[in-house]
Amino acid sequence: MDAQLWHEHCVTEMPVEPPHLTVTQWNALTDGQRDDHVDRLSRWLANLFVATIEADAIYRKMTKTVQANAYSPPGAKRLPALSGMNYVGKSTMMMRWARERYLEWIADAEKDDDGHPIFRPASGCEADLYPIVWIDLRAAALIKDVVGEILDFFNLPSDGDTRHVSEAAISAIRRHRTRVVVIDDVHLLKTNWKGGRDVLDYVKHFNTRLGKLGVSLVLIGANLEGSDLATDPQIASRLRLDHLQPYPCERHDIDHMRRWQAIARQLENLVLPHLPRGKPEMLFTKLAQELHDRSQGYIGDVTELVTEATIEAIHDGSFRIQRKHLDRVELSKRAEDEYRDRKHPPKRAS
Ligand SMILES: Nc1ncnc2c1ncn2[C@@H]1O[C@H](COP(=O)(O)OP(=O)(O)OP(=O)(O)O)[C@@H](O)[C@H]1O
Ligand SMILES: [Mg+2]
Repeated sequence: MDAQLWHEHCVTEMPVEPPHLTVTQWNALTDGQRDDHVDRLSRWLANLFVATIEADAIYRKMTKTVQANAYSPPGAKRLPALSGMNYVGKSTMMMRWARERYLEWIADAEKDDDGHPIFRPASGCEADLYPIVWIDLRAAALIKDVVGEILDFFNLPSDGDTRHVSEAAISAIRRHRTRVVVIDDVHLLKTNWKGGRDVLDYVKHFNTRLGKLGVSLVLIGANLEGSDLATDPQIASRLRLDHLQPYPCERHDIDHMRRWQAIARQLENLVLPHLPRGKPEMLFTKLAQELHDRSQGYIGDVTELVTEATIEAIHDGSFRIQRKHLDRVELSKRAEDEYRDRKHPPKRAS
Protein backbone atom coordinates (compact mmCIF):
# COMPACT_ATOMS: atom_id res chain seq x y z
CA MET A 1 0.00 0.00 0.00
CA ASP A 2 1.30 3.46 -0.81
CA ALA A 3 -0.08 6.90 -0.01
CA GLN A 4 -1.81 7.19 -3.38
CA LEU A 5 -3.60 3.84 -3.01
CA TRP A 6 -4.54 4.66 0.56
CA HIS A 7 -5.99 8.00 -0.52
CA GLU A 8 -8.00 6.32 -3.29
CA HIS A 9 -9.23 3.65 -0.88
CA CYS A 10 -10.41 6.36 1.52
CA VAL A 11 -12.16 8.65 -0.96
CA THR A 12 -13.81 5.93 -3.07
CA GLU A 13 -17.53 5.88 -2.38
CA MET A 14 -19.08 2.60 -1.25
CA PRO A 15 -21.35 0.96 -3.88
CA VAL A 16 -24.87 2.33 -3.76
CA GLU A 17 -27.67 0.06 -2.60
CA PRO A 18 -29.84 -0.95 -5.59
CA PRO A 19 -33.60 -0.30 -5.35
CA HIS A 20 -35.85 -2.78 -3.54
CA LEU A 21 -38.04 -4.76 -5.96
CA THR A 22 -41.35 -6.53 -5.45
CA VAL A 23 -41.85 -10.09 -6.78
CA THR A 24 -43.83 -8.64 -9.71
CA GLN A 25 -40.99 -6.23 -10.50
CA TRP A 26 -38.38 -9.02 -10.29
CA ASN A 27 -40.47 -11.19 -12.62
CA ALA A 28 -40.93 -8.37 -15.11
CA LEU A 29 -37.15 -7.98 -15.61
CA THR A 30 -35.55 -9.28 -18.81
CA ASP A 31 -32.64 -11.74 -18.31
CA GLY A 32 -30.16 -8.92 -18.93
CA GLN A 33 -31.86 -6.55 -16.49
CA ARG A 34 -32.06 -9.31 -13.88
CA ASP A 35 -28.34 -10.12 -14.25
CA ASP A 36 -27.54 -6.44 -14.01
CA HIS A 37 -29.63 -5.99 -10.85
CA VAL A 38 -28.13 -9.11 -9.21
CA ASP A 39 -24.68 -7.81 -10.11
CA ARG A 40 -25.34 -4.44 -8.44
CA LEU A 41 -26.81 -6.21 -5.43
CA SER A 42 -23.78 -8.53 -5.15
CA ARG A 43 -21.43 -5.57 -5.31
CA TRP A 44 -23.33 -3.79 -2.55
CA LEU A 45 -23.55 -6.95 -0.43
CA ALA A 46 -19.81 -7.56 -0.79
CA ASN A 47 -19.21 -4.29 1.04
CA LEU A 48 -21.60 -4.83 3.92
CA PHE A 49 -20.18 -3.95 7.29
CA VAL A 50 -21.73 -5.30 10.44
CA ALA A 51 -21.38 -2.88 13.33
CA THR A 52 -20.88 -4.53 16.68
CA ILE A 53 -20.94 -3.11 20.21
CA GLU A 54 -17.48 -4.57 20.87
CA ALA A 55 -15.93 -3.07 17.73
CA ASP A 56 -17.59 0.24 18.52
CA ALA A 57 -16.04 0.33 21.99
CA ILE A 58 -12.59 -0.42 20.55
CA TYR A 59 -13.14 2.29 17.93
CA ARG A 60 -13.85 4.90 20.57
CA LYS A 61 -10.98 3.80 22.77
CA MET A 62 -8.56 3.95 19.86
CA THR A 63 -9.67 7.49 19.01
CA LYS A 64 -9.30 8.59 22.62
CA THR A 65 -5.80 7.11 22.96
CA VAL A 66 -4.60 8.72 19.73
CA GLN A 67 -6.02 12.05 20.87
CA ALA A 68 -4.42 11.73 24.33
CA ASN A 69 -1.09 10.98 22.61
CA ALA A 70 -1.37 14.08 20.44
CA TYR A 71 -2.15 16.27 23.46
CA SER A 72 0.48 14.90 25.84
CA PRO A 73 4.02 16.35 25.96
CA PRO A 74 6.66 14.89 23.62
CA GLY A 75 7.97 11.47 24.71
CA ALA A 76 7.14 7.80 24.46
CA LYS A 77 3.40 7.51 24.00
CA ARG A 78 0.70 4.98 24.71
CA LEU A 79 0.76 2.18 22.20
CA PRO A 80 -2.76 1.17 21.11
CA ALA A 81 -2.92 -2.37 19.74
CA LEU A 82 -5.57 -4.77 18.48
CA SER A 83 -5.19 -8.50 18.79
CA GLY A 84 -7.41 -11.51 18.05
CA MET A 85 -7.53 -14.76 16.13
CA ASN A 86 -6.98 -14.88 12.40
CA TYR A 87 -9.94 -13.76 10.29
CA VAL A 88 -11.82 -12.28 13.21
CA GLY A 89 -11.97 -8.86 11.50
CA LYS A 90 -9.05 -6.89 12.97
CA SER A 91 -7.79 -5.30 9.75
CA THR A 92 -11.30 -4.53 8.46
CA MET A 93 -12.21 -2.77 11.65
CA MET A 94 -9.01 -0.78 11.84
CA MET A 95 -9.15 0.13 8.15
CA ARG A 96 -12.54 1.68 8.77
CA TRP A 97 -11.22 3.49 11.81
CA ALA A 98 -8.16 4.78 9.90
CA ARG A 99 -10.27 5.75 6.89
CA GLU A 100 -12.60 7.80 9.06
CA ARG A 101 -9.67 9.54 10.75
CA TYR A 102 -8.06 10.23 7.36
CA LEU A 103 -11.23 11.78 5.92
CA GLU A 104 -11.68 13.86 9.08
CA TRP A 105 -8.07 15.08 9.03
CA ILE A 106 -8.01 16.02 5.36
CA ALA A 107 -11.50 17.56 5.35
CA ASP A 108 -10.32 21.16 5.71
CA ALA A 109 -7.04 20.75 3.84
CA GLU A 110 -6.31 22.49 0.57
CA LYS A 111 -6.38 20.06 -2.38
CA ASP A 112 -4.09 19.98 -5.41
CA ASP A 113 -5.41 19.70 -8.99
CA ASP A 114 -5.83 15.92 -8.57
CA GLY A 115 -7.81 16.31 -5.36
CA HIS A 116 -4.95 15.21 -3.07
CA PRO A 117 -4.63 16.99 0.27
CA ILE A 118 -1.73 19.40 0.59
CA PHE A 119 -0.45 22.02 3.00
CA ARG A 120 1.93 24.94 2.74
CA PRO A 121 4.79 24.74 5.24
CA ALA A 122 6.09 28.11 3.96
CA SER A 123 4.88 30.60 1.38
CA GLY A 124 5.44 29.37 -2.15
CA CYS A 125 6.08 25.86 -0.91
CA GLU A 126 3.62 22.98 -1.09
CA ALA A 127 3.76 19.53 0.55
CA ASP A 128 1.54 16.44 0.45
CA LEU A 129 -0.50 15.81 3.57
CA TYR A 130 -0.39 12.16 4.69
CA PRO A 131 -2.03 12.04 8.13
CA ILE A 132 -2.22 8.23 8.13
CA VAL A 133 0.49 5.77 7.18
CA TRP A 134 -0.71 2.16 6.83
CA ILE A 135 1.78 -0.65 6.37
CA ASP A 136 1.34 -4.42 6.12
CA LEU A 137 4.33 -6.35 7.41
CA ARG A 138 5.83 -9.24 5.50
CA ALA A 139 6.77 -12.58 7.01
CA ALA A 140 9.82 -12.60 9.31
CA ALA A 141 10.05 -8.81 9.18
CA LEU A 142 13.13 -7.14 10.58
CA ILE A 143 13.73 -3.51 11.49
CA LYS A 144 14.80 -2.58 8.01
CA ASP A 145 11.66 -4.16 6.55
CA VAL A 146 9.45 -2.07 8.84
CA VAL A 147 11.08 1.22 7.94
CA GLY A 148 11.37 0.09 4.31
CA GLU A 149 7.57 -0.38 4.21
CA ILE A 150 7.10 3.12 5.61
CA LEU A 151 9.37 4.59 2.97
CA ASP A 152 7.52 2.58 0.31
CA PHE A 153 4.28 4.14 1.56
CA PHE A 154 5.79 7.56 0.83
CA ASN A 155 7.27 6.25 -2.44
CA LEU A 156 10.76 7.01 -1.17
CA PRO A 157 13.84 4.83 -1.74
CA SER A 158 14.95 2.62 1.14
CA ASP A 159 18.64 2.22 0.29
CA GLY A 160 21.34 2.43 2.91
CA ASP A 161 21.89 1.00 6.35
CA THR A 162 19.14 0.56 8.94
CA ARG A 163 19.98 3.76 10.77
CA HIS A 164 19.89 5.78 7.56
CA VAL A 165 16.53 4.37 6.35
CA SER A 166 15.05 4.75 9.81
CA GLU A 167 15.96 8.45 9.90
CA ALA A 168 14.58 8.87 6.38
CA ALA A 169 11.27 7.28 7.47
CA ILE A 170 10.99 9.52 10.53
CA SER A 171 11.71 12.67 8.51
CA ALA A 172 9.08 11.67 5.94
CA ILE A 173 6.56 11.21 8.76
CA ARG A 174 7.41 14.66 10.08
CA ARG A 175 7.48 16.29 6.62
CA HIS A 176 4.05 14.98 5.64
CA ARG A 177 2.39 15.75 8.99
CA THR A 178 1.54 12.14 9.71
CA ARG A 179 -0.50 11.65 12.88
CA VAL A 180 -0.85 7.87 13.02
CA VAL A 181 1.33 5.02 11.76
CA VAL A 182 -0.58 1.73 11.63
CA ILE A 183 1.40 -1.50 11.42
CA ASP A 184 -0.79 -4.43 10.43
CA ASP A 185 0.24 -8.07 10.90
CA VAL A 186 2.77 -7.00 13.53
CA HIS A 187 2.94 -10.65 14.70
CA LEU A 188 5.12 -11.16 11.64
CA LEU A 189 7.94 -9.20 13.28
CA LYS A 190 10.79 -11.63 13.70
CA THR A 191 11.54 -11.58 17.41
CA ASN A 192 12.33 -15.26 18.03
CA TRP A 193 16.00 -15.25 17.02
CA LYS A 194 19.22 -13.96 18.47
CA GLY A 195 18.59 -10.47 17.00
CA GLY A 196 15.03 -10.45 18.38
CA ARG A 197 15.99 -8.20 21.29
CA ASP A 198 17.14 -5.52 18.80
CA VAL A 199 13.81 -5.72 16.99
CA LEU A 200 11.88 -5.15 20.23
CA ASP A 201 14.25 -2.35 21.22
CA TYR A 202 13.63 -0.76 17.87
CA VAL A 203 9.85 -0.81 18.38
CA LYS A 204 10.39 1.10 21.65
CA HIS A 205 12.80 3.51 20.01
CA PHE A 206 10.46 4.08 17.08
CA ASN A 207 7.51 4.70 19.41
CA THR A 208 9.61 7.22 21.36
CA ARG A 209 10.73 9.01 18.22
CA LEU A 210 7.16 9.18 16.92
CA GLY A 211 6.01 10.28 20.36
CA LYS A 212 8.33 13.27 20.15
CA LEU A 213 6.38 14.31 17.05
CA GLY A 214 3.00 13.65 18.72
CA VAL A 215 2.45 10.72 16.33
CA SER A 216 0.77 7.49 17.50
CA LEU A 217 1.95 4.06 16.54
CA VAL A 218 -0.96 1.60 16.27
CA LEU A 219 -0.30 -2.14 16.15
CA ILE A 220 -2.58 -4.85 14.77
CA GLY A 221 -1.67 -8.51 14.95
CA ALA A 222 -2.90 -12.03 15.50
CA ASN A 223 -2.71 -13.47 19.01
CA LEU A 224 -0.44 -10.78 20.44
CA GLU A 225 -1.25 -11.72 24.04
CA GLY A 226 1.75 -13.52 25.47
CA SER A 227 3.93 -12.69 22.46
CA ASP A 228 7.46 -11.26 22.86
CA LEU A 229 6.04 -7.89 21.91
CA ALA A 230 3.32 -7.90 24.55
CA THR A 231 5.50 -9.26 27.33
CA ASP A 232 8.48 -6.96 26.87
CA PRO A 233 8.21 -4.83 30.05
CA GLN A 234 8.89 -1.49 28.44
CA ILE A 235 6.47 -2.10 25.56
CA ALA A 236 3.85 -3.74 27.80
CA SER A 237 3.77 -0.72 30.11
CA ARG A 238 2.68 1.48 27.22
CA LEU A 239 0.57 -1.04 25.35
CA ARG A 240 -3.22 -0.57 25.32
CA LEU A 241 -4.15 -3.98 24.02
CA ASP A 242 -7.67 -4.71 22.84
CA HIS A 243 -8.95 -8.05 21.75
CA LEU A 244 -11.48 -8.94 19.06
CA GLN A 245 -13.05 -12.37 19.16
CA PRO A 246 -15.66 -14.44 17.36
CA TYR A 247 -19.11 -14.27 18.91
CA PRO A 248 -19.79 -17.05 21.36
CA CYS A 249 -23.29 -18.53 21.26
CA GLU A 250 -23.81 -21.17 23.90
CA ARG A 251 -27.35 -22.46 23.45
CA HIS A 252 -28.31 -21.88 27.08
CA ASP A 253 -26.58 -18.56 27.57
CA ILE A 254 -29.21 -15.85 27.17
CA ASP A 255 -26.64 -13.06 26.88
CA HIS A 256 -24.74 -14.89 24.12
CA MET A 257 -27.95 -15.60 22.28
CA ARG A 258 -29.06 -11.99 22.53
CA ARG A 259 -25.78 -10.61 21.24
CA TRP A 260 -25.70 -13.07 18.38
CA GLN A 261 -29.31 -12.38 17.46
CA ALA A 262 -28.45 -8.67 17.27
CA ILE A 263 -25.86 -9.52 14.59
CA ALA A 264 -28.33 -11.72 12.70
CA ARG A 265 -30.99 -9.03 12.95
CA GLN A 266 -28.63 -6.44 11.50
CA LEU A 267 -27.93 -8.67 8.53
CA GLU A 268 -31.63 -9.47 8.17
CA ASN A 269 -32.53 -5.77 8.13
CA LEU A 270 -30.04 -5.26 5.32
CA VAL A 271 -31.11 -8.14 3.05
CA LEU A 272 -34.84 -8.40 3.80
CA PRO A 273 -35.88 -5.45 1.58
CA HIS A 274 -34.27 -7.34 -1.34
CA LEU A 275 -36.18 -10.56 -0.58
CA PRO A 276 -39.85 -9.67 -1.13
CA ARG A 277 -41.20 -13.00 0.17
CA GLY A 278 -39.09 -12.83 3.31
CA LYS A 279 -40.72 -12.09 6.64
CA PRO A 280 -39.19 -10.41 9.68
CA GLU A 281 -37.47 -12.98 11.92
CA MET A 282 -36.54 -15.02 8.84
CA LEU A 283 -32.94 -14.97 10.07
CA PHE A 284 -32.59 -13.67 13.56
CA THR A 285 -34.97 -16.10 15.23
CA LYS A 286 -35.53 -18.96 12.77
CA LEU A 287 -31.99 -19.40 11.52
CA ALA A 288 -29.84 -17.64 14.15
CA GLN A 289 -28.49 -20.88 15.61
CA GLU A 290 -27.76 -22.32 12.18
CA LEU A 291 -25.95 -19.11 11.21
CA HIS A 292 -23.77 -19.49 14.28
CA ASP A 293 -23.17 -23.21 13.75
CA ARG A 294 -21.99 -22.51 10.22
CA SER A 295 -19.84 -19.44 10.99
CA GLN A 296 -18.82 -20.16 14.61
CA GLY A 297 -19.46 -16.49 15.33
CA TYR A 298 -16.98 -15.05 12.81
CA ILE A 299 -18.49 -11.83 11.42
CA GLY A 300 -16.84 -12.26 8.02
CA ASP A 301 -18.19 -15.80 7.63
CA VAL A 302 -21.73 -15.01 8.73
CA THR A 303 -21.82 -11.99 6.41
CA GLU A 304 -20.64 -14.12 3.51
CA LEU A 305 -23.17 -16.82 4.39
CA VAL A 306 -26.10 -14.41 4.44
CA THR A 307 -25.08 -12.47 1.35
CA GLU A 308 -24.57 -15.63 -0.72
CA ALA A 309 -27.80 -17.16 0.57
CA THR A 310 -29.59 -13.96 -0.50
CA ILE A 311 -28.35 -14.37 -4.05
CA GLU A 312 -29.30 -18.09 -3.98
CA ALA A 313 -32.83 -17.19 -2.83
CA ILE A 314 -33.16 -14.72 -5.69
CA HIS A 315 -31.80 -17.18 -8.27
CA ASP A 316 -34.27 -19.94 -7.42
CA GLY A 317 -37.21 -17.53 -7.18
CA SER A 318 -37.92 -18.18 -3.46
CA PHE A 319 -37.15 -14.56 -2.52
CA ARG A 320 -36.69 -15.53 1.15
CA ILE A 321 -33.83 -17.29 2.90
CA GLN A 322 -34.47 -20.84 4.05
CA ARG A 323 -32.17 -23.45 5.49
CA LYS A 324 -31.60 -24.94 2.00
CA HIS A 325 -30.09 -21.65 0.80
CA LEU A 326 -27.58 -21.66 3.65
CA ASP A 327 -26.76 -25.29 2.84
CA ARG A 328 -25.83 -24.31 -0.71
CA VAL A 329 -23.16 -21.84 0.44
CA GLU A 330 -19.66 -23.16 0.91
CA LEU A 331 -17.61 -21.16 3.40
CA SER A 332 -13.88 -21.24 4.12
CA LYS A 333 -12.13 -24.50 4.95
CA ARG A 334 -11.78 -23.29 8.55
CA ALA A 335 -15.53 -22.73 8.91
CA GLU A 336 -16.54 -25.93 7.09
CA ASP A 337 -14.09 -28.09 9.07
CA GLU A 338 -15.19 -26.64 12.38
CA TYR A 339 -18.87 -27.03 11.49
CA ARG A 340 -18.34 -30.68 10.62
CA ASP A 341 -16.23 -31.38 13.72
CA ARG A 342 -18.72 -29.76 16.09
CA LYS A 343 -21.63 -31.64 14.51
CA HIS A 344 -19.84 -34.97 14.47
CA PRO A 345 -17.01 -34.68 17.02
CA PRO A 346 -14.13 -36.98 16.05
CA LYS A 347 -14.25 -40.16 18.20
CA ARG A 348 -11.50 -40.30 20.81
CA ALA A 349 -9.38 -43.42 20.87
CA SER A 350 -10.14 -45.30 24.12
N1 LIG B 1 -17.66 -5.96 10.73
C1 LIG B 1 -17.61 -6.70 9.62
N2 LIG B 1 -18.68 -6.78 8.80
C2 LIG B 1 -18.63 -7.54 7.70
N3 LIG B 1 -17.57 -8.26 7.30
C3 LIG B 1 -16.47 -8.21 8.08
C4 LIG B 1 -16.42 -7.43 9.27
N4 LIG B 1 -15.21 -7.59 9.84
C5 LIG B 1 -14.53 -8.42 9.03
N5 LIG B 1 -15.26 -8.79 7.98
C6 LIG B 1 -14.84 -9.70 6.92
O1 LIG B 1 -14.19 -10.79 7.55
C7 LIG B 1 -13.06 -11.21 6.83
C8 LIG B 1 -11.84 -11.23 7.72
O2 LIG B 1 -11.56 -9.92 8.15
P1 LIG B 1 -10.08 -9.38 8.34
O3 LIG B 1 -9.22 -9.69 7.16
O4 LIG B 1 -10.22 -7.97 8.75
O5 LIG B 1 -9.61 -10.27 9.55
P2 LIG B 1 -8.22 -10.23 10.34
O6 LIG B 1 -8.57 -10.46 11.77
O7 LIG B 1 -7.46 -9.02 10.01
O8 LIG B 1 -7.50 -11.53 9.76
P3 LIG B 1 -5.92 -11.88 9.78
O9 LIG B 1 -5.56 -12.21 11.20
O10 LIG B 1 -5.82 -13.06 8.90
O11 LIG B 1 -5.17 -10.69 9.28
C9 LIG B 1 -12.95 -10.27 5.64
O12 LIG B 1 -13.51 -10.91 4.51
C10 LIG B 1 -13.78 -9.08 6.03
O13 LIG B 1 -14.37 -8.45 4.91
MG1 LIG C 1 -5.60 -8.76 9.03
